[in-house]
Amino acid sequence: MDTETTTASTGVLSAFPDHWQRRHLLDLESLSAEELHVILRLAEEFKQYMNRSREKLSLLKGKTCANIFFEDSTRTRNSFSLAARRLGADTIEFSASSSSVSKGETIIDTAKTIEAMNVDLLVVRHRTPGTPHLLSQNVDCAVINAGDGPHEHPTQGLLDILTIQQHRGDLTGLTVALVGDIAHSRTARSNIWGLKKLGAHVIVCGPSTLVSQDWETLGVEVAYNLDEILPRCDVLNLLRIQFERQYTRPFPSVREYALLYAMNRERMKSAKDDILIMAPGPINRGVEITPDVADGPHSVILDQVNNGLAVRMAVLSLLLHGGTANSASPGADSATQ
Ligand code: CP
Repeated sequence: MDTETTTASTGVLSAFPDHWQRRHLLDLESLSAEELHVILRLAEEFKQYMNRSREKLSLLKGKTCANIFFEDSTRTRNSFSLAARRLGADTIEFSASSSSVSKGETIIDTAKTIEAMNVDLLVVRHRTPGTPHLLSQNVDCAVINAGDGPHEHPTQGLLDILTIQQHRGDLTGLTVALVGDIAHSRTARSNIWGLKKLGAHVIVCGPSTLVSQDWETLGVEVAYNLDEILPRCDVLNLLRIQFERQYTRPFPSVREYALLYAMNRERMKSAKDDILIMAPGPINRGVEITPDVADGPHSVILDQVNNGLAVRMAVLSLLLHGGTANSASPGADSATQ
C-alpha cells in the first residue's frame, strides 16, 4: 500500500453526506442551513486531518481544477491551489494579464477553452457580479465563485463562520458585527447569508456613505457608531476599505475613518473580554485595525487563513465527489485493495 492509499483510509471521509446535489458553489444565499453544516463538518474533519498529517489524499486523483482569476488574490488563489493538490488533483493557474483575453477573447470562450483541456472544475474570480453564474450556465464542469465584484465570496463566508464556530461553538444568539466598507464587500454579503441562517445576530456598521439603511431588508441591524455597539459584540469582522471599487471618496480622510472605526487598543477596553477580532484580509494596518490589535491575543486572522484551506478542501471534494465519496472515490477504493 503506497502513501496515498494509506492516507485515504484515515477516516477523513466519515463526514461525507450520503447525498450532495449541488454541482456549483456560487453563493451562500441559496444554501440551506443543513448544506452549510455539511460543508462546515467536512471542513472541520479536513482541518483535524491536516493537524495530524501533511500527507496528500487521493480523493481527487485524476481530477483537474483550474483557477481563473481576473482580480488579484493571495489567500483565495493559493489556498484553492493547495487544497486541490492536497486532495490529489492536478491544477491549472490562469492569469488574465498574460492570457489571450488581452487579444479580445470573451470570458465564456476563455472558460470553454480551459474546460476543453479536460478540466473538471473552475474557480473563478472576476470584478463583475454574476460572472461565475454566467460561466456555470455555459460550461459542463463545476464552477466555484471565488469572489464576483461586491456580490459574494462564499468560501470566505464559510471560513469566517468555521473560525467563529471553533472559538464559540454554536452561533445561535451570537452578535457578529461587520465593520467598514459594507457597500463594496462581497465578504459582508456572504457572511450575512451564512450567519443569519445559522442563528447569529448580525450588525453592519460603518459610515452612512458605505452602509445604507436598506441593509435592514436582509434582516441585519444597521449601525453608524462603533463605540455604541461594541460592548455587545461577540465578534468583530473588520472589512477593508475598497478604494479600488469606489468612484468618490466616502469620507473626508483615512485619518477620520480610523478615528471613528479603526479597532485599536483604546476601543478594546470597552469590548467583551473574549471578543474575537477577525478580518478577511488583506488588512490595511492603521486604517481598519491597528497593528497591536491585528497581532494581539484576540485576533484570529491567521486562523481564518488556515481554515480557508480546510473549507476549500471540503468544497472541492463535495462538488467533485459529492455523496459518492465513501463508496466510489479513488482514494477509498484503492485503500481497500
Ligand atoms: N480574503 C480574500 O479574498 O483575500 P485575497 O484577495 O488575498 O484572496
